[in-house]
Amino acid sequence: LAFKVMKKAVENAPDRWMPGGTPDPLIRRQHGQIGRPISRIDGPLKVEGSARFAAEVALDNMTYAAIAFSTIARGRIASLDVGDAEAAPGVVLVMSYRNAPRMKPMQALGSSEMALSGDDLPVMQDDVIHWNGQPVAVVLAETQEQADYARSLIRIGYEIWPSTTAFEVAKAAGTETGFFLGQPLHVKVGDAESALAAAPFRVDGLYRTPRHSHAAIEPHATTVAWNEDALVVHDATQGVTHTAWQLSRVFGIPQEKVHVTSPYVGGGFGSKGLWQHQVLGAAAAKLARRPVRITLSREGVFRIVGVRSPTEQRVAIGADERGCFTAIVHTGTALMTPHNFMPEPFIAGTGNSYAAETFKLDVQIARINSVASTFMRGPGEAVGTFALECAVDELAELIGLDPIELRIRNEPERNPTDGRPFSSRNIVEAYRAGAERFGWSTRQAPGTRREGEWLVGLGCATGTYPYYRMPGGVARLTIDRDGCVRASVAAHEMGMGTATAHTQVVADRMGLPLDKITVEYGDSILPGVFLAGGSQQTAAIGAAIIAAHRTLVAKLIRLAGNDSPIAGLRPDEVTGLDGGLAKLDDAERRESYASILARAKLPELTVEAKAPLPLEMLHWSMHSQAAMFCEARVNAVTGETRIARFLGSFDCGRIVNPKTAASQFRGGIIMGLGLALMEETAFDERTGRVMSPSLAEYHVPAHLDVPPIDVMWTDIPDPHTPMGARGIGEIGITGTGAAVANAIYNATGKRIRDLPITLDKLL
Ligand code: MOS
Repeated sequence: LAFKVMKKAVENAPDRWMPGGTPDPLIRRQHGQIGRPISRIDGPLKVEGSARFAAEVALDNMTYAAIAFSTIARGRIASLDVGDAEAAPGVVLVMSYRNAPRMKPMQALGSSEMALSGDDLPVMQDDVIHWNGQPVAVVLAETQEQADYARSLIRIGYEIWPSTTAFEVAKAAGTETGFFLGQPLHVKVGDAESALAAAPFRVDGLYRTPRHSHAAIEPHATTVAWNEDALVVHDATQGVTHTAWQLSRVFGIPQEKVHVTSPYVGGGFGSKGLWQHQVLGAAAAKLARRPVRITLSREGVFRIVGVRSPTEQRVAIGADERGCFTAIVHTGTALMTPHNFMPEPFIAGTGNSYAAETFKLDVQIARINSVASTFMRGPGEAVGTFALECAVDELAELIGLDPIELRIRNEPERNPTDGRPFSSRNIVEAYRAGAERFGWSTRQAPGTRREGEWLVGLGCATGTYPYYRMPGGVARLTIDRDGCVRASVAAHEMGMGTATAHTQVVADRMGLPLDKITVEYGDSILPGVFLAGGSQQTAAIGAAIIAAHRTLVAKLIRLAGNDSPIAGLRPDEVTGLDGGLAKLDDAERRESYASILARAKLPELTVEAKAPLPLEMLHWSMHSQAAMFCEARVNAVTGETRIARFLGSFDCGRIVNPKTAASQFRGGIIMGLGLALMEETAFDERTGRVMSPSLAEYHVPAHLDVPPIDVMWTDIPDPHTPMGARGIGEIGITGTGAAVANAIYNATGKRIRDLPITLDKLL
C-alpha cells in the first residue's frame, strides 16, 4: 500500500524530475527492513552499563574539574583570592583569567554552518562578567570531591555595572527584528491588520511562555587530554565534527589535530553543542599537562548552558462567516543576550499552517544580560504553536464550530505565505484517524463534564515542524567477502535510535539481514559533517548512505565483469537481493557479493560518497505534521491538572522504525506536557540569576505524571526525501502545549494563555 501511495504521489508531483526532489528508484524495492520495529541496537549495552558516556572515560593521571560561577549579571572581577583553594587537599591548580592560556573566542550559532556555540564571548580571558553564572575560575584536583570543596574556598569581589535583567525593562529599551538561519523573522502577505479589523469573527490574545532550562538526563561532560599538540576530546555532543572544528580554532591548531568522540549522548534536545566547559577543560588540561574530566553539576547546566527564551506573543485571527481565515497576525518578543544569535523563532510554524488571505508575522528581539538563549527541542514551534493553536481553539468556540472542522476548512493547498507546493501533506487524514481513535465525538461543551471532584475536558491542536536536510553528509560503505557491510558516518546517537534505523536502511538497500550490518558513528575521524539537530540527522545520513550505495553498486557491477549474470546492467536496473545484486524484475539474474569480490580477488571493497545538495528544500514546502489529542482532568477543589490520556496522530512521511519512532513521538509529547504544566526557570529579574538550578526546583514530568500516550501515523512516504521519511525528533513537543490548554479550557471553561498552567492560575 505504501508503495502504491508513494508511486501515486510521485506521478502527481508537479515536476517529478526536479533536482533533489527526484525519488530514489532503488528505495522502492523494499526488502522489508524499513518499517520493522527493531529494538535499539545499543539498548543492551545501556542496560548492562557497558555503554561508556563522556564522563565515564577514565584516562591515566586524570584530574577532576570544578567551576566557580559569577554571582552578578554584569561588571568586573575586582578581587580574586584563590590562595585557600590552591592550598586545599588534592588541588592541582586553580585557573582564572589571570593564568588561563590565550584562546580565541568560540563562534556563535548562525555565524558559520560549523558554529555550535551559544555566544562568541571570550572564555576566561579577562575580568569582565557578562552574565550571572559565567565561569570565573576552574579548580583541578585529584578527586571530584576535592575539586568541589576547594571551589568553595575561592573568594571573589565584584565591581557591579548597570545591567538589564527584566523582560519588561529590556523590551522598553527598544527591540529589533530577529534573524534566524539568515532570514528576518518577518513575513507580510497583504494587509492583515485591516483584514482583521473587517472580519466578522476575530480573536486577539496575548500569550506568554517562560524561560526553559535544559535538563537532559546526562549533564554535559567532557574528558580531555593533550597528546603533544593534539587534543583528544571525549564529549557529549550533537556535533562531533563541529566540536573538532571549533576547538581547533579556539586553540589555533589544525582541525586534524582535534579528535572528538561521542559514542553515546544521554539526551541533547539542542543543548549539547559547545559551551564554555569544553574550552575550559581543554585549557586547564593544557595548563596542568594532565588529562581533565569536566562534568557540569546539575547547577552548572543551569548556569552556563543556554535556555529557551521567554516569549510574549500576540496571536489574532480574523475569519469570515464560513470560518475561513482572512487574517493571521502572530507577533511578539523574545530575548537574546548582546552576544547571542538565537532568537526563539515562534512564528516558524505559523506561515505554513492555514490558508489565510493575509499574514503579519514578526519576532522582535529585546536584549538582556543573562545566560544565552539557545536551541531547545522544537525551537520556535514548541511555544509558537501553543499561542497559535490556542487562538484557533478560541476562534472555533466563538464561531461555534468544532475545532477540527475549523482547521479542515482552512487547510491550505500550497504554502500560503510563499506559494510553494507541499512535498506531502496529510494532516486532514491524521486528524480524521486520530479523532476516531481518540473518541473525539464524545467531547462536551466547556465546563459541563464532571466526575466527582474532577472536571473533564478534551482538546486538540496541530503540531508542525519543518523538514530539513543539512549539506555536508558523506558516508563510507565497506563490504567484505562474508557479505558484511560497515557504514561509517560522523553522526550521533542521543538515544533516538540512529544506529538502529540506519542498520535497517543499509540492510534494506543491500538486501542483507540486519546482523550483517554495522553502523559506525560518534567520532570526528569518520566521514561527513552531520548534526543531530533540526530533526534532520536521519535524512542527512540516509541521503549520504544512498549516494554511497549507488557508488558501491556501480563499482560492483564493473567488478563483476562480462561473465556475471548481472553483466551489462545499469546501476538503476539492479537491486540488493539475498546477499547479492539482482536484476530489478528478474531475480534469476543475480550474483552474490561474496562471489563478485572473490572473482575480483578483493578481500573487501570501500566506497565513499557525498549526499546530493538538499535542493528538495528549495522546491517544496516540507513539514512534518501532527494532530494532538488530550484528555485533561482538573480538580475543582485544588485546581491541579492531571492528563488522563493523550494521542498523537502523525504525518511524517515513511516511518523507518515504528518502535524507535513511537519512543521519539512519546518523548516529544512528554516534554510538551512538561512545557504545558510544569517547566519554568525561576529567574530573579533583579539580579539575572537562575534560582531553580536543580531538578528539585525545575520540574519536568516524572513517570507518575505521564499518562498512557497513544501514537499513530499515516506512514505515507514523502516522495521528495531520502527513504520517504521526514523528521520525527521535535514534532512531538509541538502542538502538545495547546492541546493541553485547549483540553483544560474544555474541562473548566477557563482560558489560560500563560504557561505553565499551574493550579494557581485555575483557581
Ligand atoms: Mo534540536 S533543538 O535542533 O537539537
